[in-house]
Amino acid sequence: MPIPTPYVNAPRIGAGEETAVDVRTLVIGDTFELEVGPGRGGFIFERAAAAPQAGLVGLEIRRKWATIVDSRLAKQGLSPRARVFAEDAKWAMRRMGPDGIFERVFMHFPDPWWKKKHEKRLVMGDVFLREASRLLKKGGELFVQTDVEERAALYEEAIATESTFVPFGDAEGSPRLAENPYEARSPREHRAIADQLPVYRLRYRRI
Ligand SMILES: C[S@@+](CC[C@H](N)C(=O)[O-])C[C@H]1O[C@@H](n2cnc3c(N)ncnc32)[C@H](O)[C@@H]1O
Repeated sequence: MPIPTPYVNAPRIGAGEETAVDVRTLVIGDTFELEVGPGRGGFIFERAAAAPQAGLVGLEIRRKWATIVDSRLAKQGLSPRARVFAEDAKWAMRRMGPDGIFERVFMHFPDPWWKKKHEKRLVMGDVFLREASRLLKKGGELFVQTDVEERAALYEEAIATESTFVPFGDAEGSPRLAENPYEARSPREHRAIADQLPVYRLRYRRI
């Protein structure tokens, strides 16, 4: 008897691995926002309350959490405009369109891998930045936060290589933000705040 694969019916985008996907067929909204790696999903619920006109798409590589969070969204009646799909963001973003569809791209506390051999797993990198740039509308925002200071510095360095992003932080010319301005926090962010850990926040505008 075959061993059942857990979460084999995890929600996916589009019909096949290679098909192009129009974001407007996934969720409805006056504007659209993307969250990469929502994990246990707190941000998407809080953001749905804070931005009721926005269509929210989460891409979560872990089938278990994508399935659980997506079904919680459905139970709360939010799924017409907020969904989480079990996808590797680096692949899924390449399939998404049209260009300039998103108002905001959020990435909260990504990449919990520290070993050199796990570098290829990192979401932050050329592919993510190119696709985030393509999918963000002009004037749209990229927001990245972490509680690891060295990672924030690395993210800043990486994002600086993508010339379509300009720093949009508290001070002119800097991407650093002291606070999260989106009226919604991720689970990791809530925990960091409760533990009184510093949070390093970066925001950019797509030009
Ligand atoms: C440290 S957790 C943070 C979870 C959540 N963003 C938060 O702040 O509470 C990183 C999340 O990113 C997800 N992730 C890592 N690589 C990913 C990828 N390539 N595509 C989508 N999700 C990814 C992980 O499965 C995990 O849920």
